[in-house]
Amino acid sequence: MKSLFFCALLGLQVILSTAVHAPTWNYCRCNWNSWKSWSDCDSDCFGERVRIRSVRVLALPYCDNFNVCATDDEGKDRQTCNRVCHNGGWASRLSYRPCNCKPGFHGTCCTEVVNCGTPGYIIDGTRHWSSTNYGSVARYTCNTYYNMTTGDHVRTCQDDFTWSGTKPHCVFAYHCNSSPCKNGECVNLLDDFRCDCHNGWTGRLCENDIQPPVVVNCSSDIAINATERTIGFDWTPPSFYDPLGNDLDIVSNYPSPSFVFPWGDFTAQYVATKPSNGLSTECTFNIKVRPTPCEELNIPINGALICNGWKADYGQFCMVTCQQNYTIGPGDKSFETMYVCGASGTWIARGPIPDCQVEIETVGEVLQYQPDYDAYSFDGSCHNNDIVTSLQNLYIERIVSTSGFGELCTQFPDECVSDNVKVKCGGTI
Ligand SMILES: *[C@@H]1O[C@H](CO)[C@@H](O)[C@H](O)[C@H]1NC(C)=O
Ligand SMILES: *[C@@H]1O[C@H](CO)[C@@H](O)[C@H](O)[C@H]1NC(C)=O
Ligand SMILES: *[C@@H]1O[C@H](CO)[C@@H](O)[C@H](O)[C@H]1NC(C)=O
Ligand SMILES: *[C@@H]1O[C@H](CO)[C@@H](O)[C@H](O)[C@H]1NC(C)=O
Repeated sequence: MKSLFFCALLGLQVILSTAVHAPTWNYCRCNWNSWKSWSDCDSDCFGERVRIRSVRVLALPYCDNFNVCATDDEGKDRQTCNRVCHNGGWASRLSYRPCNCKPGFHGTCCTEVVNCGTPGYIIDGTRHWSSTNYGSVARYTCNTYYNMTTGDHVRTCQDDFTWSGTKPHCVFAYHCNSSPCKNGECVNLLDDFRCDCHNGWTGRLCENDIQPPVVVNCSSDIAINATERTIGFDWTPPSFYDPLGNDLDIVSNYPSPSFVFPWGDFTAQYVATKPSNGLSTECTFNIKVRPTPCEELNIPINGALICNGWKADYGQFCMVTCQQNYTIGPGDKSFETMYVCGASGTWIARGPIPDCQVEIETVGEVLQYQPDYDAYSFDGSCHNNDIVTSLQNLYIERIVSTSGFGELCTQFPDECVSDNVKVKCGGTI
């Protein structure tokens, strides 16, 4: 069964292979002649050679040409020949495939050299090359005043027929040659420039004047001791100038640097303006005029010195009190004495302040020296808060009721309060 099937297959194959023959093959009694010898190879590198064969036929009518036996291709046989590779290339194992070439060569037999063609053109630069073959080098340079930014100045012809890297880019880098900056130093940038302006100038081209007037010898604040109610004073006014040489307008609230000042606080102001750009510069300073201060008073031992703590720089009014059982001595000033520092810079009455150095044995004895002892003595420590408060109140009463001193309260009612009274405690024996 199995062999029968095989025979059937074989028969089929015979029919198939004879099918390429012309249908008249049998009728014409065709027979192949043997192959002729191969033709010469048509190329000395990977060429082709051919051989042919002919048929014998019976001399019957109609059987007078090749095609009554077979198709043209059955009479022809082709073969690859001269499978040689040049320039170090090697042949592939498959006969119909051409050579594998070493880098730099191509073509069926590796006879052709890889060529990258002319290296790319660039604007504002030049290119040089001696060959465009594989491994050759092309060099780019930028024209004068142009700098290379991106790309490669050396490019090599590669096996894939391209130049390595990328074309360089040349940009103008000498804008400063045309001196674009009006008042500053020019810095070349790639395809650009920058102006570093001199002092007083700004803008892309340093064309804007932003220099304000400059002041010299602007006085600092001034304090003046006035022994009189007023004092004449001269000062040096500030100087202004423009480093760029423009004219300035200068105004002041004191047109002349000389004035007769009363006691008080004053401000001198000078403003210089530059009309060319509207910028101005100011110089102000304070002038403080006060009566000449007096020396510090001593503080009575076993007692207290009580003075105004407000407006003290315009005048000081002080009085003395003693701790209980002590008093100031006979012949010394009385408790009624006020110590006043006026414009002259000296105390009236003059210092020093008498100490409360006399210890009292009986109250009767004391009243001989100081009849006001009771009113001006304090019972306890001078540092005690209640004592301090009572002394402050005592001072206010005294100031308000004493003619000539009341002004200190009527002129400055908000400040004439006991909290603003200064109590200084003397040492004890
Ligand atoms: C342009 O190239 C020159 C020479 O290399 C260099 O001195 C200069 O700084 C470059 N200019 C800029 C803007 O990079
Ligand atoms: C500034 O004051 C000094 C000292 O008084 C003086 O020598 C100088 O000339 C003054 N400068 C100007 C610009 O007035
Ligand atoms: C004002 O007088 C006081 C005390 O005599 C003194 O210390 C001070 O320096 C004087 N001030 C001036 C500006 O003369
Ligand atoms: C003052 O003296 C009297 C009588 O000697 C005495 O009673 C009183 O305590 C004394 N006062 C003080 C604060 O020492």
